[in-house]
Amino acid sequence: MTNSETKATLSFSDGSPSLEMPIYKGSIGPDVIDIRKLYGSTGMFTYDPGFMSTAACNSSITYIDGDKGELLYRGYPIEQLAVNGGDFLETCYLLLNGELPNAAEKANFVSTVTRHTMVHEQMQFFFRGFRRDAHPMSVLVGTVGALASFYHDSLDINDERHREVSAIRLIAKMPTLVAMAYKYSIGQPFVYPRNDLSYSANFMHMMFSTPCEEYKVNEVLVRALDRILILHADHEQNASTSTVRLAGSSGANPFACIAAGIACLWGPAHGGANEAALSMLEEIGSVDNIPEFIAQVKDKNSGVKLMGFGHRVYKNYDPRAKLMRETCYEVLNELGLQDDPLFKLAMELERIALEDEYFVSRKLYPNVDFYSGIVQRALGIPTALFTGIFALARTVGWISQWKEMISDPEQKIGRPRQLFVGSPRRDVPPMDKR
Ligand code: SDX
Repeated sequence: MTNSETKATLSFSDGSPSLEMPIYKGSIGPDVIDIRKLYGSTGMFTYDPGFMSTAACNSSITYIDGDKGELLYRGYPIEQLAVNGGDFLETCYLLLNGELPNAAEKANFVSTVTRHTMVHEQMQFFFRGFRRDAHPMSVLVGTVGALASFYHDSLDINDERHREVSAIRLIAKMPTLVAMAYKYSIGQPFVYPRNDLSYSANFMHMMFSTPCEEYKVNEVLVRALDRILILHADHEQNASTSTVRLAGSSGANPFACIAAGIACLWGPAHGGANEAALSMLEEIGSVDNIPEFIAQVKDKNSGVKLMGFGHRVYKNYDPRAKLMRETCYEVLNELGLQDDPLFKLAMELERIALEDEYFVSRKLYPNVDFYSGIVQRALGIPTALFTGIFALARTVGWISQWKEMISDPEQKIGRPRQLFVGSPRRDVPPMDKR
């Protein structure tokens, strides 16, 4: 971050003294105006609901150019990492440490993560308190937060070693917990992780093996899942990442912070959109019904949105959506489902929307969630678990951003203010005067 030679000057039409504020430049992307002296100098706050024009921190992890449809993890384009790059654990190493691992570093990282995939044997008793039909995200919020009750040896957030261990534990145990949530929901026994399988193959094993039959690893499907995880790994200061940072700014332990991120991701406007997008496609049912559905979306009173479309930052095509559509092709072809009616419906819906002025004028394009439900369904993942897979993947992004925040000398506890529009001071009237 460097000082710009240009300053920002805030002047007032009523002749109040103007205020000069520094402008900082990053390495790429928009500059920022440092408004930290604004309240002290003017007695006024900025007003920015939804933080549309607010940079809450400086970060070197992920960069998004919404106009170009560009996504970089530590400078590397997502399309290189997800297609001809390495696997998800290489991306985890990159997000956590800032550089891609060499062969020795990767081997050591994979070995360390692999040997942390088991959860404490008593974790299983938390599951028994949930209804079998509980939404997996409610189970994950509870069980990930509960991890803090086992790892008292790594809760000192000011100890770098503790931060490292917590990051590894969370990355390693999320697949185990997500698979346990699935097994619990279908009444099958939990399946222990295996150290001889890759991260994504191990997850498929824990999801689909039973005591009666071992899951047969299909490398095409495992690679597809690995790519889905890479595409969802991090995404700058999105709602759930900002939640993790805000929770972390109070000094809360990393397990509690990630549980907060999971809770936020659950919302249908955010990570819950993949589940909602598939339900939307199933509700539309056939290509013939698309025009009626589009008409509903355009009717503001309907409250109907085209789920999996639109984005706060991308005002061009979400690069992850393109890669997710390609992954759809690969998986459906591998499974002989290339004529999958939902996939054809999704592509026709995309084609129609991208030619419709309503969506074009609002710069609404498919986002990462539009195709992810179709490919996850083809992988055998139940719809209710889609957001759990998103949380599994995003854990590395959350914990990388959390670590960056903790070690940022500028970080303070997050405490936004407000524009108060309620009642001025008044006295409590006696009951007979109300
Ligand atoms: C994720 O932030 C991230 O990086 C998130 C994420 C990540 O990796 O962490 O990328 C993951 O959350 C992807 C987004 C998944 N959500 C959905 O697909 C849900 C559907 N999308 C919308 O809810 C919406 O597009 C948002 C929430 C994603 C973005 O909303 P914004 O930026 O606040 O945009 P907006 O609501 O101001 O919309 C601008 C206009 C409005 O119309 P007008 O009032 O101008 O007439 O576009 C319309 C909106 O009504 N609009 C939509 C729409 N999204 C926006 N209309 C129909 N369908 C949609 N999906």
